[in-house]
Amino acid sequence: MRSKIVAGNWKMNKNSEETEDLINELIDKLPTDGNTKIIIAPTFINLASAVDHTEFTNIRVAAQNMHQAENGAYTGEISADMLKSIGVNTVILGHSERRSIFHETDAVISFKVDTALKHDMTVIFCFGEELKDRQNKQHFNIVENQLRDGLFHIDKSAWANIILAYEPVWAIGTGETASPEQAQEMHEFIRETVRKVFGSDIAEDVSILYGGSVKPDNAAAIFSKPDIDGGLIGGAALKADDFVAIVNGI
Ligand code: PGA
Repeated sequence: MRSKIVAGNWKMNKNSEETEDLINELIDKLPTDGNTKIIIAPTFINLASAVDHTEFTNIRVAAQNMHQAENGAYTGEISADMLKSIGVNTVILGHSERRSIFHETDAVISFKVDTALKHDMTVIFCFGEELKDRQNKQHFNIVENQLRDGLFHIDKSAWANIILAYEPVWAIGTGETASPEQAQEMHEFIRETVRKVFGSDIAEDVSILYGGSVKPDNAAAIFSKPDIDGGLIGGAALKADDFVAIVNGI
């Protein structure tokens, strides 16, 4: 049985005090009895306190990125071992902002995936087409290539640690959302692509999240689709009431 998951990607927002405030508000307002897994991804410097604050809750803490090397001369970077040492066991990899602004290629992302898996971390693997790809009707090809080049080299046994997050770049932070039908069409294609390479058990068990301008007023319609197992939420994850409403929409 695959899990329902709602993850909040806080990006470069919230200082230390604001992080604590938002976590406290989430602890107060999030349902504690549901089956939905809740993940939040604050910035690196606030991860340790986020782990402490969420210790006795159902909120899991993820990093937004990490470096692929074990350690060494990589000024400004953070390793898997450092994350694990403060209790962070989940990492977002391949986010479109990392791909476009920081020039991360599929090859680099695939190294990061390997390193994270080697450290027994859960990977939220992000991918999705740009607007021009959709306009040129290349979106299925692009998505398939991102999966093959960044992820499909892993062992079958590693899939227990993989969460997929389809995020069409044209819908991220733009207020423009894929319609529930467009999202479902792509999620079905993604599950089918996983099935062809890794078989039905893995395809049925992997959670596929949708990301891109998910808000309280569109979440329930998106989450109602059979191949959409939750969401990766950016802007709306920064307000407790919005994030909680999205969680309640699942
Ligand atoms: P958004 O961001 O919800 O603000 O569109 C989603 C994401 O980047 O993960």
